[in-house]
Amino acid sequence: MAQYNVLILGSGGREHALAWSLSRSPLLGKLYISPGNPGTTVHGENVAISPAGDTTGPEAWFEAVEAFIRDKEITLTVVGPEQPLVDGITDYLETRGHKVFGPSKAAARLEGSKTFAKWLMHKYQIPTSESMEFSGETALDDLEDWLSVDNQNWPVVIKADGLASGKGVFISRNRTESLEHLGKIRNDTALRKAAGKLIVEEFMEGEEASVFAITDGRNARLLISAQDHKRIGEGDTGLNTGGMGAYAPAPVIDERMLRLVEDTILYPTLGAMQLEGHAYRGVLYLGLMITKDGPKVVEYNCRFGDPECQVLLPALKSDLLELMLATVNFELDKTEVVMSGEHFCCVVLASGGYPETYTRGLEISGIDKVSDDALVFHSGTRSADGKLLTNGGRVLSVVASGSDLQSAIDNCYREVKKITFDNAYYRRDIGAKGLRRS
Ligand code: GLY
Repeated sequence: MAQYNVLILGSGGREHALAWSLSRSPLLGKLYISPGNPGTTVHGENVAISPAGDTTGPEAWFEAVEAFIRDKEITLTVVGPEQPLVDGITDYLETRGHKVFGPSKAAARLEGSKTFAKWLMHKYQIPTSESMEFSGETALDDLEDWLSVDNQNWPVVIKADGLASGKGVFISRNRTESLEHLGKIRNDTALRKAAGKLIVEEFMEGEEASVFAITDGRNARLLISAQDHKRIGEGDTGLNTGGMGAYAPAPVIDERMLRLVEDTILYPTLGAMQLEGHAYRGVLYLGLMITKDGPKVVEYNCRFGDPECQVLLPALKSDLLELMLATVNFELDKTEVVMSGEHFCCVVLASGGYPETYTRGLEISGIDKVSDDALVFHSGTRSADGKLLTNGGRVLSVVASGSDLQSAIDNCYREVKKITFDNAYYRRDIGAKGLRRS
């Protein structure tokens, strides 16, 4: 059987889950992860890839990645996070003859430019909220004027156009809050850059959930739905985070809803991207609001979610590497996706204080006590002197399954409690919304 060397780019829980899943494939030759984390070393070799000399910027790094791909005879590069995709790594590598799982720069605008995504959805009548765009040097002032004088409907959602690590979306319940939010954008250099254009949207009522599809541009294969928990506090309170836990499938997206998502959102989006000349290839993350009028798009993402990836890949029975190779070779129609009938729950262990300030370097213990039936994916960890230490806000994701959602949750929390470090924090209500619905 042919074997293929694979390079994964990224260092979080998502990339650890990708490494775990790809390492189970009989098609895998050698697996490299750059930079990876202490967890990914179990499945492949972590490698540092950095530009030669003191050159900086995305192109210099792409060049170093390309040299590594040639040197190690990599067949497939899997890009975990959004930034390199939005910066154009797929185009850079593909024009030099390499295969990349992830969309082109133009297609990654579905995530990289909220104004592009809205424009596409409005043009092709893909269900989403009503919105208005403000651009140019006076965008912030113009939006402030509009909110102060013309807007009659609160709450509104204010979004910066570009990537902002989850910090570029504000829900303003009234004029005072909207002024506070615009002030935050004005005072944050990175946000101001992302807010070269701004969008103000109607607030959608409903329950949020996500659907993921692997696509080669024409054909798509649905994975199951999942629900993330973005806020730090129980009951969805407090600050936004990268995601504090997830479960799959999400009962709010039953079979009928999934078909609606396919018919009214997924295939129309893929068709629209083809018609615009930017066929989308890779994994498409549909962030949805399930409203009383049906599913509507909150956002598109051009990669797997984190921590959603940690529940989706353990639920995938098919060979991930085979699916990814079929995607880059435009042969997805020859594959099928088989998902486990079980339920999956992921709880994120975070450093106390996250998403604000927190301490790094705290010793983690108890992972060796976790049952073989559960999985532990690393995010913010590092090894030193034979010890495992915390090294980030989100530290570990613990994943377990069960024949129903309740048992998946119970199995997961039983394992979470075995892992300790000073000031560890996790939400105790992951999956509670799904339980209420099911
Ligand atoms: N968990 C949310 C995201 O990956 O964007």
